[in-house]
Amino acid sequence: MHSAQRTSDTGWWRNAVIYQVYPRSFADADGDGTGDLAGVRRHLPYLAELGVDALWFTPWYRSPQADGGYDVADYRAIDPAFGTLEDAEALIADALRLGIRTIVDIVPNHVSADHAWFREALAAPPGDPARDRFWFHDGKGPGGDTIPTNWSSSFGGDTWTRTTGPDGRPGQWYLHMFAPEQPDLNWNHPDVAAEHEAVLRFWYDRGVAGVRIDSASMLAKDPSLPEVGEAHPPGRHPHLDRDEVHDVYRRWRKIADSYDEPRLLVGEVWLEDTDRFVRYLRDDEMHMAFNFDFMSRPWDAEALAASIRSTFAAHAAVSAPPTWVLSNHDVTRPVTRYGREDTSFAFADKRFGTPTDLALGARRARAAALLTAALPGVLYVYQGDELGLPEVEDLPDGAREDPMHFRSGGVDPGRDGCRVPLPWTATGPTFGFSGEAAAAPWLPQPQDWGGHAAQTQESDPGSFLTLYRRAIRLRRAEPALRGDAFAWTETAPGALAFRRGEDVTCVVNFADAPADLPAHTEVLLASGPLEGGALPKDTAAWLRT
Ligand code: GLC
Repeated sequence: MHSAQRTSDTGWWRNAVIYQVYPRSFADADGDGTGDLAGVRRHLPYLAELGVDALWFTPWYRSPQADGGYDVADYRAIDPAFGTLEDAEALIADALRLGIRTIVDIVPNHVSADHAWFREALAAPPGDPARDRFWFHDGKGPGGDTIPTNWSSSFGGDTWTRTTGPDGRPGQWYLHMFAPEQPDLNWNHPDVAAEHEAVLRFWYDRGVAGVRIDSASMLAKDPSLPEVGEAHPPGRHPHLDRDEVHDVYRRWRKIADSYDEPRLLVGEVWLEDTDRFVRYLRDDEMHMAFNFDFMSRPWDAEALAASIRSTFAAHAAVSAPPTWVLSNHDVTRPVTRYGREDTSFAFADKRFGTPTDLALGARRARAAALLTAALPGVLYVYQGDELGLPEVEDLPDGAREDPMHFRSGGVDPGRDGCRVPLPWTATGPTFGFSGEAAAAPWLPQPQDWGGHAAQTQESDPGSFLTLYRRAIRLRRAEPALRGDAFAWTETAPGALAFRRGEDVTCVVNFADAPADLPAHTEVLLASGPLEGGALPKDTAAWLRT
């Protein structure tokens, strides 16, 4: 039996369950149709019962919400739609009393066009130092009419927008790797670094246990603004994963480590090259990063086993624990994705009208939940996945808000479908998301949403919620699942099996033929009924062996 990772780093997070809250859609206490912090406070007992160790909040700061809060106008203020700074402080304290830590989202690549710095920059003339905190540039060609570079945006479309001068004439261009409402910051400017360090301290001083770092590999840009070519030496791409970005995280790690309980750095690092990925996890940088490789794989024994193997191999070189992620606020819900012919995830492939078998997807999503919860490392759960919510694919066009949808010319359905407000009760106009007599939820809920309600699932032994609760409880209770020890074991073709510690084995069957289970004394948990003692297709079980 080998150990999946080194154990020198013994922070609370090493085998934590971290629950992602999308505040806009979690629970709405004031009845305006938008979720809020008071709504989260009200449902903390639910999260404690689920057994999570920490909550990661997607951005809760003041924001015009051009990109669901990833356009931050003021890091030191809570968006009025969500509440106040006092509400955030009360929420952090209430959660801690239940043993739940808080992680906030930091978006260092860009700010909102409404941020004071950007307003100042826009009001200033070309060449003014106020513009140096961003990437303002003259256009090419006569009149500066041509875009400064042809870099492409993660949201589709151009990455530069032209400004208009006070005289109404076209002026300089500014860079935005996402939407035009999200101008990129210039990380070569000392103010940008200093301000982020102050923001980290601001939240750490308020008891926040860590930060999730948005678009973490994108901050550094080549100031000579070259075009993206065929091959750039590692670390020298014009705007992605440049070597100097690591200096930022080294400084942030020092700040995190200066607290009595060291604060946690979690990276959103989308990089295909695992060697480049783990560089962010070196001992003086981040504590962990999301495992998007695993998340994007199809529902297939070999593909998932290969990802688990390469995850362990990559993490063996660093003390960071692996993480296991099935979804988040950016991707198609697992129940939907696993119910399709192509069960892998890629932004570029999202299309309207993809045939989906939700019953099949739900069976697989349940098995996937047990697979990920049985792996050594950190488990991330996106709100609503514990209820088995599907992607909402038939949102009325007028309801959609995601810039990814609009910037694709309407071809990409966008990310609204995984952000629909949660159902808490089986009945009622908003299924308990808001109180009675409330405004309509900011995104409409499907009519059958009540069938997924937390309240209904609580008392149903066969529900998604019960499965998640039991799995998380066992993860905590079973010493074998708390440790790092992991070993693959023999199993039927088309199935995966591995032993954790001395006495727990997880088996997942992907094949048509039911898989015989290894000798065991007890079935601790199964994602679906067994068939004559064997494990049916698309089912997972945890065994005492
Ligand atoms: C990250 C966020 C996503 C956001 C983007 C720009 O990928 O997860 O929601 O749109 O960064 O901030």
